[in-house]
Amino acid sequence: MKTIFVTGGAGFIGSNLLIHLHNTYSDYHIVNVDKLTYASDLAYLKEIEGSERYTFVQVDLVDRNAVRDLIQLFKPIGVFHLAAESHVDNSIKGPEPFVMSNVVGTFNVLEECRQYWGQNNLLTEGRFLHVSTDEVYGSLGETGFFTESTPYAPNSPYSASKAGSDLLVRAYFHTYKMNVVTTNCSNNYGPHQHDEKLIPTVIRTALNNKPIPIYGKGENIRDWLFVKDHCRALDMVFHSGNAGETYNVGGYNEWTNIELVYKICEILDQKVGNGPEGKYSNLIEFVTDRPGHDLRYAIDPTKIETELGWQNTQNFDRELGITIDWYVNRYKK
Ligand SMILES: NC(=O)c1ccc[n+]([C@@H]2O[C@H](COP(=O)([O-])OP(=O)(O)OC[C@H]3O[C@@H](n4cnc5c(N)ncnc54)[C@H](O)[C@@H]3O)[C@@H](O)[C@H]2O)c1
Repeated sequence: MKTIFVTGGAGFIGSNLLIHLHNTYSDYHIVNVDKLTYASDLAYLKEIEGSERYTFVQVDLVDRNAVRDLIQLFKPIGVFHLAAESHVDNSIKGPEPFVMSNVVGTFNVLEECRQYWGQNNLLTEGRFLHVSTDEVYGSLGETGFFTESTPYAPNSPYSASKAGSDLLVRAYFHTYKMNVVTTNCSNNYGPHQHDEKLIPTVIRTALNNKPIPIYGKGENIRDWLFVKDHCRALDMVFHSGNAGETYNVGGYNEWTNIELVYKICEILDQKVGNGPEGKYSNLIEFVTDRPGHDLRYAIDPTKIETELGWQNTQNFDRELGITIDWYVNRYKK
């Protein structure tokens, strides 16, 4: 058995990834290291909670001693690092937890892995996958795509804290030859996402017949990727990515927020059909835009496609349908 850590495994992407890894690799003992913030839910991991190949540990990565003890105890040979504060609006209201969890937390895991792997002659073998976001690149205009060489230009405290952690990870490769890889992914959708994010918010407010809030005029464009396609990309980069490299992950699936919200409303009209005058879109309400709201994100995933053979397999209508069913079930309870 090899022990690997998944940090942030009780969150949205982490829980989907943990189930994927558990069901794919029978020789992994997976330790889920999570502080259990408001965004997490251990119930997402119900299907594997009794497994002897899965262990949950509640630890705040900001606590360096706790991180060191954990590494000494479990002796991981790999880390999928996802733990982070992840909601842009919260970072605008209060940036400090973002600096603490995303920058200091990443530093603590990175540094304690370096020390443990260094002392045990495992620096080449031990692998650290840092999971980041396309938001570090800032905003695109109407054309073009983010590539791995796009300069960093973060515009929110969230993306700035992720950019800071990305740069630390990069430095650990160049300075210490640590076996790190980084991914920068576009917006994910799917089951297990916290209520505060766009797609769950649209479904929840619609089902409650409350106004569906849309920032500005809903013109911001995001590139949406199904969470399971992201998890397969993380699996590939962890196992086959080249040390020190970064890989962009995205779906070539751009939607303005308003188009996406109309699409969700139409699917809800078909599935639930209880909107005002038969249309949930009648609930859409435009609200004051988020400060520093990036206009457009879009990823060029050529590198991960050509070097690692990753393919985005999503069928957006099908996967969005699955996602909507999951939240309709959740909110109807
Ligand atoms: N959601 C997206 O669309 C998206 C896209 C690209 C990249 N990412 C990145 O993927 C990662 C996971 O995102 P998500 O959407 O699943 O986030 P999430 O908010 O759903 O989950 C984050 C998890 O990290 C845990 N956590 C937070 N601070 C911690 C700390 N100090 N110590 C230990 N655990 C802590 C939380 O308890 C939670 O379980 C993040 O690093 C995020 O930047 C997300």
